[in-house]
Amino acid sequence: MTVQEIFETMDYGPAPESAAAAQEWLERSGRAFGHFIGGQMTAHAGGLDSRNPADGSHLASLSQADAAAIDAAVAAARKAQADWAADGARRGRVLYAMARLVQKHARLLAVLETLENGKPIRESRDIDIPLVARHFYYHAGLARLMEDEMPAQRPHGVCGQIIPWNFPLLMLAWKVAPALAAGNTVVLKPAEDTSLTALFMAEICTQAGVPPGVVNIVTGDGRVGEMIVAHEGIDKIAFTGSTEVGRRIREATAGTGKALTLELGGKSPYIVFDDADLDSAVEGLVDAIWFNQGQVCCAGSRLLVQEGVAERFHDKLRRRMDGLRLGDPLDKCIDVGAMVDPAQLERVSRMVSEGLEADPGAEVHRTGAALPDGGCFYPPTLITGLHPASPLMQDEIFGPVLVGTTFRTPAEAVALANNSRYGLAATVWSENLNLALDVAPKLAAGVVWINATNLFDAAAPFGGLRESGFGREGGPEGLAAYTRPRAEATELSRLRPVEAPAKGAAPSDGLLDRTAKNLVGGKQARPDSGYSTPVWSPDGRLLGHVGQGNAKDIRNAVEAAGTAGAWSRSTGHGRAQILYYLAENLAAREAEFATRLRDLGQVDADGAAAEVAASVDRLFTAAAWADKFDGRAAGVPLRGMALALREPVGVIGALCADEAPLLGFVTVLGAILATGSRAVLIPSEAAPLAAMDLMQVIETSDVPAGVVNIIAGRHEDLAAPLAGHMDVQAVWSFSSSDLSEGIERASAADLKRTWVNHGRGLDWHAPAGGLKPFLEQATEVKTVWVPYGE
Ligand code: NAI
Repeated sequence: MTVQEIFETMDYGPAPESAAAAQEWLERSGRAFGHFIGGQMTAHAGGLDSRNPADGSHLASLSQADAAAIDAAVAAARKAQADWAADGARRGRVLYAMARLVQKHARLLAVLETLENGKPIRESRDIDIPLVARHFYYHAGLARLMEDEMPAQRPHGVCGQIIPWNFPLLMLAWKVAPALAAGNTVVLKPAEDTSLTALFMAEICTQAGVPPGVVNIVTGDGRVGEMIVAHEGIDKIAFTGSTEVGRRIREATAGTGKALTLELGGKSPYIVFDDADLDSAVEGLVDAIWFNQGQVCCAGSRLLVQEGVAERFHDKLRRRMDGLRLGDPLDKCIDVGAMVDPAQLERVSRMVSEGLEADPGAEVHRTGAALPDGGCFYPPTLITGLHPASPLMQDEIFGPVLVGTTFRTPAEAVALANNSRYGLAATVWSENLNLALDVAPKLAAGVVWINATNLFDAAAPFGGLRESGFGREGGPEGLAAYTRPRAEATELSRLRPVEAPAKGAAPSDGLLDRTAKNLVGGKQARPDSGYSTPVWSPDGRLLGHVGQGNAKDIRNAVEAAGTAGAWSRSTGHGRAQILYYLAENLAAREAEFATRLRDLGQVDADGAAAEVAASVDRLFTAAAWADKFDGRAAGVPLRGMALALREPVGVIGALCADEAPLLGFVTVLGAILATGSRAVLIPSEAAPLAAMDLMQVIETSDVPAGVVNIIAGRHEDLAAPLAGHMDVQAVWSFSSSDLSEGIERASAADLKRTWVNHGRGLDWHAPAGGLKPFLEQATEVKTVWVPYGE
């Protein structure tokens, strides 16, 4: 093409990035890799191939790890851990060196990433790799600060980390940097399609002075992931990938005591209001759904446009789509590269064709540009006119396919946006900041971007709700997920109620007719089972009866809690007032509660008085926190600010501690009320009456109906219906019965949050700070990115 022709057509010319340095590195390695274990590369064992999805060419042969390799990696990680955890300043220096080395090898890493993954070099060079470096820098700082800032926390130990192929090196950084900063060692498995940058990172670890065994990298497919998950020497699993595999991991780790964070799929709404800057919103959409060929967990893949501008917006969008350049990912001028592999291309093609068959009314626009020959290319696609329940509207496609519909009012936009089993991210476009900031809190999403999209930073927590998983990555919140309390949990030993006296009951203070009912929706309710259990004092007095709750009672209680959503939208100030009132009302009856506690036989008279006093104090502390536990603003190196807000988790079901029947109950109650969640509480099974008496205090303290529901009964019977209920967002167990396996397994269905079997390890009498972990568990971080500053 002559210069004159170029001027006439104004066509782009290709601007290929050289792959020479990356290919040379592969050649030097013999195009054959083993695993990185204990600071050494093991011999190549084969079993996997790495290919360039843009042209199918062979890049290298990799090794499928076997059980012996995993054992060796876990053993190396275990051996290195204590020493690594000992010195935060040293960890900071090493992480800093890693950041520097990532920058030093930035171009090679970007090219290698693009060669193996198919993403445009423009993205790997300008987004992925700079974010990788930023992650290591940020966590170098956290490593140094951790000891002072989180004195009560310690690292988990050895972390198993399993990552996907869509951001191979960035996901490694998201996992490795915080784990190392907190003092853990890791066994990381990259995705089978994209292991090369992780293996390059092994070299960087060595150069940066990461001690042998602190980072171990084993390659292979899902079977290797399964072995890591099942390995007894692993203390925590961190996973990013499909919801299906995340659910399997939840089931596999149930009852093992392994900590778990899951970052899973999404179908994130992209909402355009009629007053939006439409051109910016179109440009944002290019980043939302055509970034990385749409293979992004938080891709803005569901377009919701306000009716008045829908036609104009769709026209602009189609024109923009037609200008997208699809082609060789190493060409610096292209917008859309190759899908990761033939299987993913086939999966996306099949989903779209089957979806369109099922919904023949849909309208499809595909970019007209010819697809390059031979590679895994799929054209950017827009599908409108789908039924809201269509699989294409509901299921994660994970490709460059945008589905869209329209709405009339902000309320309808919110309803459509939240009509999803996922809850990862959401984008809002409007020039009216009042509107955008009104809508943002109503969106069920872990991350919300306002007038921007797909912004990420190491300081801004990232993670989802619902079937998008749990746990946050980034910021101090993400670091916390790589730690556990220093206090060791002791073995559970089951506490049982005082047994009935062998020879008849002693005189009973005339309280024989006192049967504690349940509290459901603000009313006292008889248990559905029609059964009650006597409660005895150690000296043989019948103290009263408690109902035996069953699954039906749990369902009623959850339904009542579901209707009390206004509590979760109330102000911290308002909630504090009610908690103060509750604390005062309990204080007024301290003597009576102390007598009751003593009679229940778990503590002596002094212990009972101390427990009641501590309970009053706990409620005052909860009141103090109610208008203060609200999050932070993260300074991010982009135009804007990320607000990491603490939102109530929703409906929390809690099996309360047996060994501290009043204080354990009040601690859970106080944290849930303070943070705006709603509660279904199961009192101590061994000594339920103290909590049941509290019902009257709750009833006289202006707690709105349905916010607190109390069902007494056998913990073993009530845990399963709670954990299996789809309208319960979290289940906690402090029971002295070991219920963790059942709860965690049942929670896999909807991936609800669980916090189990810490009961015997918690110091219920801990001073005010003891409430903090409860406040954290009762909330989830929502990160809202807002435009701010220049
Ligand atoms: P995947 O979830 O199977 O793979 C992610 C990682 O998990 C890989 O390292 C894989 O080897 C490993 N893995 C697979 N099975 C495992 C098991 N049973 N135990 C432990 N680890 C296991 O995702 P895949 O098959 O590559 O992609 C399938 C679909 O999943 C995509 O089309 C997309 O919809 C979704 N996906 C979502 C991602 C996200 O970030 N939300 C990332 C990757 C895939």
